[in-house]
Amino acid sequence: MKKLVILSGAGVSQESGLKTFRDMGGIWEQYRLEEVASPEAWHKNPELVLRFYNERRKTLWYAKPNPAHHAIARLEKFYDVQVITQNVDDLHEQAGSTRVLHLHGELRKARSTADPSLIYTLRHWELTLGDTCALGSQLRPHIVWFGEPVPNIGIASGMVEQADILVVIGTSLAVYPAAGLLHDTKKGTPVYVIDPGEPNIGKHNVTIIRKKASEGMEDLYGLLTTQSDQNQNVE
Ligand code: OAD
Repeated sequence: MKKLVILSGAGVSQESGLKTFRDMGGIWEQYRLEEVASPEAWHKNPELVLRFYNERRKTLWYAKPNPAHHAIARLEKFYDVQVITQNVDDLHEQAGSTRVLHLHGELRKARSTADPSLIYTLRHWELTLGDTCALGSQLRPHIVWFGEPVPNIGIASGMVEQADILVVIGTSLAVYPAAGLLHDTKKGTPVYVIDPGEPNIGKHNVTIIRKKASEGMEDLYGLLTTQSDQNQNVE
């Protein structure tokens, strides 16, 4: 099977009711990111940081995957699909995608401030001061904050290098190192970008589908399944 890599961002979950960051009315219009999504913010005002992620987590608790997430999951019948997501939601997994790499962490998880290998899946959307790990230390959101290293970027880069096709969906490509992944493809690899806005693609030679995720994915699903080597074998 051909390797299909999907690089997703906040836009893929917009139709599930989760806000993007940099669109009009987006999250970074409401909050200053240094005040809620950085190690300095955590030191200065952990309560505010927890409240910010609690709000996000509460919305996610009741959100459902949309047709774009489902189409991406269904592509596994035709391709060896690897999702690389900047999103901290788990809507790709909920839709049935089996290989999902999170670059910026996972909202449903918390980790120890004493030992980062102690990671817990939360049973409720609320994480508060006083919630502790097995060692008795405060738990923090399992999120990669600005100024922190992105542990999975090397793995992601290797996946993009191996891709036969790359699909970029719902990301402004404004945040590095994730945005740099676009340049890790082998020469000649077809790249499709689904976005109703103007992502920061630079001079890259890509096919742009200027639509929302669900509609754009429906179009691309038709194209990719027709092109697939597997389409003879699947009804
Ligand atoms: P952005 O908010 O920067 O970009 C969202 C992109 O989605 C834009 O290009 C929009 O045009 C597009 N978009 C909006 N609605 C859409 C829809 N219905 N369908 C498809 N596309 C749509 O979000 P990201 O690029 O994901 O990091 O942001 C990257 C990182 O910046 C995030 O992971 C987060 C943020 O700060 C951290 O918090 C570490």
